[in-house]
Amino acid sequence: MPSRDLFPSDWLVTGAYRDTRLGVIKTGKESEVHLVARTGSDRTTLLAEKRFKARDRRSFQNNYTYRGVWGEGTFRESRAMKKNTRFGHEVAHGRWIGHEWDSLVLFHNAGITVPPPVERLDDGYLMAFVGDGERAAPRLSEIDLSPAVARRVWDELLDEVSLLVSVDRVHGDLSAFNVLWWRERAVLIDFSQTVEIVTHPAAHDLLTRDIAALARYFVRRGVEVDIDRILERIGADVHRFTRQLGDVHVAGRRAPERWRD
Ligand SMILES: Nc1ncnc2c1ncn2[C@@H]1O[C@H](COP(=O)(O)OP(=O)(O)OP(=O)(O)O)[C@@H](O)[C@H]1O
Ligand SMILES: [Mg+2]
Repeated sequence: MPSRDLFPSDWLVTGAYRDTRLGVIKTGKESEVHLVARTGSDRTTLLAEKRFKARDRRSFQNNYTYRGVWGEGTFRESRAMKKNTRFGHEVAHGRWIGHEWDSLVLFHNAGITVPPPVERLDDGYLMAFVGDGERAAPRLSEIDLSPAVARRVWDELLDEVSLLVSVDRVHGDLSAFNVLWWRERAVLIDFSQTVEIVTHPAAHDLLTRDIAALARYFVRRGVEVDIDRILERIGADVHRFTRQLGDVHVAGRRAPERWRD
């Protein structure tokens, strides 16, 4: 079920274009998603622009999930982030956006069903709008799938999660709220909490949590779910993860700086 069915390769206008903001699709705690019309010489395509709000200091300080996702930086940047200064705040904000954008590009290239990325902006990024001139795609949480369709979509979503694992990533915030439903297909969005399997010590817990959170929607629609068998099926048996953790602990090395409190 390639995403090119939903987004053909020539979906984006090329050549000279003009962008027009058409309004806000959704305002969330951390971002605002705008609808943008990109008009070229022969047609108009619709884009979604995700803009991140400045995050408050507390949310940077307390969230263990994000440790390890921002990547290495200069000493000054690391110190500023640790001290939670305004500059540290800006550095973290920029890395945060870069992290989500890089994840989107990686997933699109891996053939995962996501909105195709368009371009990175200072405070966010542009991607394909999932929807048409009439409406935005609803979230899966708003749709009541029949048991037969639910079984098919659950299966397809597990394939998507396998693909994420095959590029060493865990979504980190997967649920029916971060899946859009369009043309009978599920489209994954919102990679702000994505983590790398090889570097994040909680990756396995997050993967299990993701599957359990997504399963909640499908179990309510009559799909049978066995989390252990699913983890095996998607190539995420616990050994793959414990080996990395074991490397750190058994060898007695200290975890990299960015994991530590
Ligand atoms: N490419 C897109 N096409 C259409 N709608 C989109 C797209 N991306 C995001 N949206 C809409 O914007 C909402 C918020 O996007 P997203 O989940 O990425 O941001 P968020 O900051 O995590 O918001 P929330 O806190 O509501 O989850 C989505 O639930 C969806 O309704
Ligand atoms: Mg979201």
